[in-house]
Amino acid sequence: MDEVTVGLAALERTPLFAGLDRGHLEDVLAVGRRVSYDAGQAIVERGDPGDAMYIVLGGAAEVDVGGRFHRLERGDFFGEMAVLGGRPREATVRAVEPLEALRIPADEFHAFLAGNPQVAVGMLKSLVDRLREVQDRLDTWIGGVW
Ligand code: CMP
Repeated sequence: MDEVTVGLAALERTPLFAGLDRGHLEDVLAVGRRVSYDAGQAIVERGDPGDAMYIVLGGAAEVDVGGRFHRLERGDFFGEMAVLGGRPREATVRAVEPLEALRIPADEFHAFLAGNPQVAVGMLKSLVDRLREVQDRLDTWIGGVW
């Protein structure tokens, strides 16, 4: 499979981009740049500025959210929180296997979202899931304290 085919296959598996036709998926690929990381390497670090978001094309990464680890694989995305919120990175994301990702710079991503509102809505859904996960964790923690 050539690079474009691998990229398109990964984007098609991303729930976020599920509603997009091939032309729009090619637009996503065009605004991104392929990057690779070795196992153990940090891709984004907590506290860093949000200069880009990432879509996993292959391999695996883990996000450390307060001692809980979420595995990110082909089709998953990360780094959107700092990009959308204009705040520093919320967590460190580290490759746990050699990782291939599409890196989409913040400016291009903003412009892409403005032209593709269905992707913005999909992203909101995933943010709600993440918020809920944090809320569950807080509830468990507060329940344990009280
Ligand atoms: P950002 O804050 O830019 O950088 C770290 C990323 O980790 C964050 O964006 C999200 O993409 C991801 N992340 C943060 N919290 C969670 C969570 N609770 N579940 C899954 N991913 C998360």
